[in-house]
Amino acid sequence: MAEEHPLKPFYSVLVLAFACSALVALAAIGLKPYQDANKALDRKKNILAAAGLYDPAVNVEKQFASIETRIVSLATGEFVDNQALDPATFDQLGAAMSEDRGRPLAKADDIAGIKRQEAYSLVYLVKDGDRIDQIVLPVRGKGLWSTMYGYVAVDGNLETIRGVSFYEHGETPGLGGEIENPRWQAGWRDKKLYDESGDLSIAVVKSGTQSSPEELPYRIDGLSGATLTTKGVDHLMQFWFGDHGFKPFFEQIRKHGGIHG
Ligand SMILES: Cc1cc2nc3c(=O)[nH]c(=O)nc-3n(C[C@H](O)[C@H](O)[C@H](O)COP(=O)(O)O)c2cc1C
Repeated sequence: MAEEHPLKPFYSVLVLAFACSALVALAAIGLKPYQDANKALDRKKNILAAAGLYDPAVNVEKQFASIETRIVSLATGEFVDNQALDPATFDQLGAAMSEDRGRPLAKADDIAGIKRQEAYSLVYLVKDGDRIDQIVLPVRGKGLWSTMYGYVAVDGNLETIRGVSFYEHGETPGLGGEIENPRWQAGWRDKKLYDESGDLSIAVVKSGTQSSPEELPYRIDGLSGATLTTKGVDHLMQFWFGDHGFKPFFEQIRKHGGIHG
C-alpha cells in the first residue's frame, strides 16, 4: 500500500481553511447591500419613533413619505441646496471623519465626547400639509461605555421636545441600555429645551432628583443605577442643542419666520 505523504493532512487543512475564509468573505460582500438597506430602514423607524409616528403595522417607507430630509450647515444654520449635497446619500458620520467636511473639536467644546464634528447635518422635517409639525434631529454622544446614537424630535415651535429614540449604543442592558426603553423615553415628551430668554435649559438629571416647579418643565429624570449614562445623555443634549449644534439652525428658522419652500 502506497504511503501517505506526511504533509497531506497539513495541505488538506490549508485548502479547507482557504475555502472557508473565501466563503465568509464572499458572504460578507454579498450581504453588505442587505445590511445597509436594513440599517437605513432601522434609522427611518427610529426617526418615526422619535416623532411618535411609528406604527409597526404600516410599511416604514410609506410612513416616512410625510418626512422631508434636508441638510443644514451647522455653522450658519442655513439649508444646503440638495444639488450641492444630496440628503439621500449624505454620510454624516463619514463627513465628521473627513478632512473637508469635518473638524476636530477642541476639548472645551467637546462636551458630548465625540472628538470630531461634521460641518453639515441631516434634519428631518415632519410635515402636516404645508406646515412643519416637528423636526427630528440626529444626536450622538459618549455614555459610560460607548457612543450613543439617537434622534430628538422637536415641535415646530422649536421649544418643546416631542420625543426621543436611541438606535445604537453599547451601554449595559438593564442599566444604561434602558435609554432604549420606551417607558423612559416617554418622560421626554413636552419637556422644554429653552427658557423664556432663549437660554438652553433642558437637563437630564440623576434619577430621583427633586426639581422645583419652575425647573420641572426642563428636567428629564435620568436612569436609576446608570448615572454615568444619564450624564452622557445630558451632555449630548447640551452639545446638540447649543451653539455648536442646532441652535444656529433654530435661529435661522425664527429669523425667516418658519421654514419655506
Ligand atoms: C457590569 C457593570 C455594568 C455597568 N453598566 C453601566 C451603564 O451602562 N451605565 C451606567 O451609567 N452605569 C453602569 N454601571 C454602574 C456604574 O459603574 C455606576 O455605579 C453607576 O453609574 C452609578 O449610578 P447610580 O449613582 O445611579 O447608582 C455598571 C456597573 C457594572 C458593575
